[in-house]
Amino acid sequence: MSFAVPGRAGLTAAWNERRLLWAAHPGLGALMTAAQVAPAMAKLPRIGWVVRDPRLIRKILLDHSSTTLLGEGGVGHLWAQLLGEWVHDSFDGPGHLRLRTRAKDLFSQARAEATVAAAAGDLLAGVTERLRAGEAVDAADVGRIMVGRLISQLLGVDVAHFRGRAAASGLDFDGNGAYRAIFAQAEELTKVAVGTTGDTRLSPAAIAHARRIIAELTADVPENYRNAGPATLLGRCRELGLSETEATGLATLMLVAGTGTASSAIGRTTALLADSGQVRRLAAATGADRAELLEIAIREGLRVTSPAPMIGRHVRADFDVDGRRLRAGDRVVALVYAANSGAGGFSLDRGYLPETRQLWFGAGRHLCLGSSLAKAELRLVLGSFLDAGPWRVVERTPARGVLIPAYRRLLIKSV
Ligand code: HEM
Repeated sequence: MSFAVPGRAGLTAAWNERRLLWAAHPGLGALMTAAQVAPAMAKLPRIGWVVRDPRLIRKILLDHSSTTLLGEGGVGHLWAQLLGEWVHDSFDGPGHLRLRTRAKDLFSQARAEATVAAAAGDLLAGVTERLRAGEAVDAADVGRIMVGRLISQLLGVDVAHFRGRAAASGLDFDGNGAYRAIFAQAEELTKVAVGTTGDTRLSPAAIAHARRIIAELTADVPENYRNAGPATLLGRCRELGLSETEATGLATLMLVAGTGTASSAIGRTTALLADSGQVRRLAAATGADRAELLEIAIREGLRVTSPAPMIGRHVRADFDVDGRRLRAGDRVVALVYAANSGAGGFSLDRGYLPETRQLWFGAGRHLCLGSSLAKAELRLVLGSFLDAGPWRVVERTPARGVLIPAYRRLLIKSV
């Protein structure tokens, strides 16, 4: 049997991906479309340096003495406005190294698998059963619930508090409403960053709104920090010597960085596998071959979707990149989506690309702390779909006005 990817299927997959960017934010769609024909790096009015070459992006992200994420243009600048001045130490100052060094073993691959499986509970067995029974399953919803369950477990969120809210808004038709509500709040929080590509200063109203959400989602963190057992994330934070403020900061960061990104990757990789026709090949594989191909599907899904499509930096000292002089005070927007997807469409035949490596998780000292968790979520959710055989997409709706491009609804059915 030949599993070659037909050209039309590849185009459909690429077209559906492109629609998600435009729906999330027309500015994002326009920027990434323009990036396809743009030079490796260019200075644009109001935005600053935009860079789409993966080697140049890596060079910039690795140059910690010349760039920072704390000044205007970096994500730390946003968070300092919401969380307070201590962010300057914990997000990019000496406290950052201390936090990363101590938090490392919390996010190891071995821990991630077990943490994600425990968070998923019986959710995915039910999903496989429904697909086997010929029912349609909303893969985007499954991704959001998975992520909501994981974040609730990591942060010790009081799920009962969100259950009432979910029931009131009609989200609780299957016992997972609280997780939908928690995800919705985290998504609302990330919306403060929508439209900040040209300016990361927030209005007082946006700051007040975001602070209310953070207070609600992290309300139980201090108590959990003090009383949770050493097997939990917050208990471990305490045992490792992280302060309560650092633990709350880490919790908030995970809410922002680890919810929309991971659920976006789950929905979009599910769609890419079906749209490109390659889900049949993956589902036909068994044992070690299936596991190996699934890892490639996850890597390709992350590369092609790059759920964090841009990474911002503030230039703190003059430096040269590719013969251009970047000046202190300039801002840099790394077009990670364009850099990663530029190598071509989703393909299970694509080998490891040293140029992009895992640029979808960033590079340097801010490299994603939750990458093992994200990959474990993808492995588990896609694995549960595959257990019912290959699938097709029967209905899809892109999410509109969101920071992270995603499917709002992605109905799949076994074929
Ligand atoms: C597919 C899913 C994910 C993607 C694509 C992603 C991407 C990224 C990227 C690009 C960065 C670097 C940002 C920068 O340099 O400015 C980052 C940082 C981070 N991510 Fe992720 N992320 C994902 C999932 C997660 C998850 C599941 C968690 C935890 C629950 C998480 C926690 C973090 C944290 C804490 C940081 C900050 C690290 C630091 O500044 O030292 N991420 N992520």
